[in-house]
Amino acid sequence: MGNNKYKNKLSISKEAQQYIQITSPLDDSVIGEVPALSQKEVDRAVQLAKVTFRIWKDVPLNERAEILYKAANILLEHMDTLTNLLMREVGKDRKSANSEISRTADFIRFTADTAKSIHGESIQGDTFSGFNKEKFAVVTREPVGVILAISPFNYPINLATSKIAPALIGGNTVIFKPATTGSLCGIELGKIFKDAGLPEGVLNIITGRGSEIGDYVVTHPDINFINFTGSTEVGVKISEKAHMVPLLMELGGKDAAIVLKDADLVFAAKNIIAGAFSYSGQRCTAVKRILVVNEVADLLISHLKEEISKLQVGNPLEKQVDIVPLINTKAADYVWNLIEDAKAKGAQLIYGGKREGNLVYPTLFDYVTTDMRVAWEEPFGPVLPILRVNNVDEAVNLANQSEYGLQSSVFTENLSDAFHVANRLEVGTVQVNNKTERGPDHFPFLGVKKSGIGTQGIRYSIEAMTRVKATVINLKH
Ligand code: NAP
Ligand code: G3H
Repeated sequence: MGNNKYKNKLSISKEAQQYIQITSPLDDSVIGEVPALSQKEVDRAVQLAKVTFRIWKDVPLNERAEILYKAANILLEHMDTLTNLLMREVGKDRKSANSEISRTADFIRFTADTAKSIHGESIQGDTFSGFNKEKFAVVTREPVGVILAISPFNYPINLATSKIAPALIGGNTVIFKPATTGSLCGIELGKIFKDAGLPEGVLNIITGRGSEIGDYVVTHPDINFINFTGSTEVGVKISEKAHMVPLLMELGGKDAAIVLKDADLVFAAKNIIAGAFSYSGQRCTAVKRILVVNEVADLLISHLKEEISKLQVGNPLEKQVDIVPLINTKAADYVWNLIEDAKAKGAQLIYGGKREGNLVYPTLFDYVTTDMRVAWEEPFGPVLPILRVNNVDEAVNLANQSEYGLQSSVFTENLSDAFHVANRLEVGTVQVNNKTERGPDHFPFLGVKKSGIGTQGIRYSIEAMTRVKATVINLKH
């Protein structure tokens, strides 16, 4: 792996006629190129994965685990080069890039450990009325086959691995389609698994624009499972096209931070600002709206202003920053339009509202109302709306009116109130007194409504990508 220019050609794509140039969101410079695979090449990769599955599924679990442990070690050995690549390819700041890599190594090791602790079970027939001990079931877990793993741009190493590692340990083979911006990282990840001893054909990377090869691969008859993380828009399209194929999907969100009148406001403000703005808000779990009760709104806002003013803005190659240029101009335009819409409809700009190219400054709006787009849409960028509410019920109602249901936070010193709110929120996870976030990675992670299908998290992902098999013994006497 080199530091400056990344030119990658996949072994399966020697005949690729076309390449896609990958440019850095930091300065638009070309940092590498990846093949734009044809349907024929995608098909070849899927056929290889299908054939290899018959061998890989029978490799003993402890041998599969050894490969994963090695991959985790190799990943850490490449910390510096991968950090630089993450920074240049997806514009991540150094601290976040480092943490993505070390978190991924932890994820891989924990996946191997967890798989070893997932045991089958035996069930005796006489636990059901009318049956006796002469009938019992031996229940084991089987891989499902060829997994299609499609990952987004914002965690090109970690969110790819969160699909690949549980799939592999479960005995599946994988077709991995990285986000195009992020595919240089994806290719390096593939090399790491290869260097760790993963046999050829077990992990197969297909590069190319989702808009071009996406439909072909998601409807390919030899794909047995689709594990997708990305936008709700693309997730819905995939779910409409995939027939009789199980889906695991982590999609968009509009996570609310609900602040009650007895909350520790200094603590809440620190958490909310960190949760909303790290990596410029380009996280599915970023705090994307504040619902605060009127009694404490002014005080909370004064603390929010103090915290937001501490954020560092700029080019992560020059200094440690929180706010980086957004991934592309389309993304920056989208966020900017939300800001303009809020301003035009009378929201009060508390902070920010400035843009230089694709660098959108951290922006905070008060008095956001439900007719404004920013009240409902996912910006995937650094703009945070505050909606004032009269009471807890109004906060819960507004939170639940969203089409999304990934996570919510509730800030309060009263645990009963926290549970009262949490029980009524239509989301996968409620964080009591914390920002919304995915980790730790062995916790269940899921979205309801348009935020997803199924549950990720290390054990949950392994279980999702394996199926139960029962062999029923009937004793004769
Ligand atoms: P995206 O545009 O939906 O792309 C995600 C992946 O889907 C990319 O690999 C993309 O490839 C591919 N793709 C695009 N069109 C496709 C098609 N027709 N068929 C199959 N694959 C297709 O999302 P993104 O911009 O990378 O990520 C941002 C979004 O992801 C946000 O909405 C965010 O909330 C969501 N997200 C959710 C989670 C979660 O866990 N809930 C985590 C991270 C991100 P190309 O890059 O080649 O287009
Ligand atoms: O972007 C979506 C990720 O799943 C968020 O993960 O909460 O660890 O940043 P995170």
